[in-house]
Amino acid sequence: MAVACAAALSAFGQNILDVDVRKPGSPIQPTMYGIFFEDINYAADGGLYGELVKNRSFEFPQNLMGWQAFGCVEVKDDGPFARCPHYVELTDPGHRDRRTGLVNEGYFGIGLTKGEQYRFTVWAKAPKSKAAIRVQLIDESSMAESQVLAEQRIEVGSTSWAKYTATLSPSATLKRGKLRIYLHGANSVCLEHVSLFPVNTYKNRENGMRRDLAQALEDLHPGIFRFPGGCIVEGTDLETRYQWKNSVGPVENRPLNQNRWEHTFDHRYFPDYYQSYGLGFFEFFQLAEDIGAEPLPVISCGLSCQFQNPNPTLPGVHVALDDLEPYIQDALDLVEFANGDATTTWGKVRAEMGHPEPFNLKFLAVGNEQWDYDEKHGGFGPVFTERLKKFSDAIRAKYPALKLIGTTGPNSEGWDFDLLQPRMKQLKVDLYDEHYYRNEEWFLTHGLRYDSYDRKGPKVFAGEYACHGRGKKWNHYEAAILEAAHMPGFERNADIVHMTTPAPLFAHVDGWQWRPDQIWYDQTQMFKTTSYYVQQMYATNRGTNVLRLTMPRQQGKKTVGVPVANQEGQNGLFATACYDAPSGDVIIKVVNTSKTVQPVILNLNGMTVSGTARTLTLSHQGLDDENSISQPELIAPRPGTIGIEAGKKQSVINDLIPAMTFTVYRVKM
Ligand code: AHR
Repeated sequence: MAVACAAALSAFGQNILDVDVRKPGSPIQPTMYGIFFEDINYAADGGLYGELVKNRSFEFPQNLMGWQAFGCVEVKDDGPFARCPHYVELTDPGHRDRRTGLVNEGYFGIGLTKGEQYRFTVWAKAPKSKAAIRVQLIDESSMAESQVLAEQRIEVGSTSWAKYTATLSPSATLKRGKLRIYLHGANSVCLEHVSLFPVNTYKNRENGMRRDLAQALEDLHPGIFRFPGGCIVEGTDLETRYQWKNSVGPVENRPLNQNRWEHTFDHRYFPDYYQSYGLGFFEFFQLAEDIGAEPLPVISCGLSCQFQNPNPTLPGVHVALDDLEPYIQDALDLVEFANGDATTTWGKVRAEMGHPEPFNLKFLAVGNEQWDYDEKHGGFGPVFTERLKKFSDAIRAKYPALKLIGTTGPNSEGWDFDLLQPRMKQLKVDLYDEHYYRNEEWFLTHGLRYDSYDRKGPKVFAGEYACHGRGKKWNHYEAAILEAAHMPGFERNADIVHMTTPAPLFAHVDGWQWRPDQIWYDQTQMFKTTSYYVQQMYATNRGTNVLRLTMPRQQGKKTVGVPVANQEGQNGLFATACYDAPSGDVIIKVVNTSKTVQPVILNLNGMTVSGTARTLTLSHQGLDDENSISQPELIAPRPGTIGIEAGKKQSVINDLIPAMTFTVYRVKM
């Protein structure tokens, strides 16, 4: 009955999708769907990194930025940590009713949750051998009798620097709390590295991640974790590039770095945007391990951000080829840090940080969005590829098994892409990292992008991509559906597409520079975007092998099967199918990008059973709508079921897919 019905429907130009369930094809890499972390939009300090105090080491160029000082506060620079030498001395203001102290504003306020515990730590000394401080979590705007939500007194009883700890538990929940510290009694006290963390971090680590945000990453089931950027790898200049060696070892001694996104946009800049490196390379590797993803660090290739430095011949913009050696050594040392045993120089650093076992690093990317120049475009020559070659020679010689990732630059097509792609092939990189932020039209018309790629060239890593709507650069629903529509092209071409990571990952609602993003948050709450849900639907239904899925097309007298990528007569549909060996499931993903309901007949050729398929559907009416702090689940995937009818040669699923909808079908074989 179902088969007859399918034939009838096809006569009326319905959508017949044929899935060959008998022949599992190319393997789908475990790294296929992943995440890309960059410290943009206050993603690290003020975001994923659990620290609540801004400028905890008084190292910002304006040493008291983020702090409000009162009474007799002096900034000094001969502190106990060589790379973070500043600290403050609080001295007695000379009267019982006067005070000396500091208030920290946190990142857009300090988020506090009633009943939660917060660990306050400080390095302190009392120059006259004895002093005390009071530490308070306060609500400055409170109408209540007291501003104080929690308080502890700490006795500092030594003239030498020592670490002091206190736990505070606020009596109310507050988004814009503050931390107040003041000298209690006479004498003076010196304070350095003033820190406040929730005790309840992800995995309960002291230098840990915000639990809700890290959990959201784990829930994405990422196969690959690219970090730490993005353009911050390159820096506004070489001095501010990401230097991984500055990001490891004791947190108190990690030097501050200016964030490349601090002043990037005139319409949205944040003069207090710095990188404490508290979330550094050790923490990145550890997080990758915790969430089950392969780590993929990106390192500077010696070119500072090419967008910010259009003239590479100016002094200090790019490191000279002859001076590249320390940069290459940084790359080699990074591999040792990740994989070397505890007897090696850098393996020892890792072991001392609490991870004697190696992190099993398998991939390394050299450069982020770099490009060469031809005569028509600057004429500065192969500035990237000549540097990459030197890295590649050294890395291949020492670590031949490591997979090396190059880049095809910031564009998915055009002169720079055309210049770089063949050069990456010549250099025999293992994967090239492609980036594309494109509009709706592009996503609707590039579903076959990878079907024509050279099967013998490097594998593809779609390292940054997102739908930037025309005049609509936010997390609206339509953008997410178009991203979903692009992803069958990854899966269908799993023989060459080995990794994909959308971008960027995180954004603070008060501190963003770039949209759309995957996860948004303020000081106490977070929400997942529809783009996040799209990624999650793919990653949790990845499968192990591609299955052939086609729609019939008349070619002369013959009917042939063609990929489903919004081709002519495909009514805005994009689709892919795979087999999942561990569960034995057939998984079919269909995206309807048309503005009307599409009747779809899924023919599971090679199966002849009836039953029920599980479905997961992302569907919504308002294309411009998005989730938000106040409506975090406005748009979210809904689980369901659908009947499977058995025919003589195939099982059939009949469905009506609403306009702008993404559905995953899971069928037990
Ligand atoms: O994801 C934001 C930025 O976009 C990245 O830093 C850069 O690689 C790209 O241009």
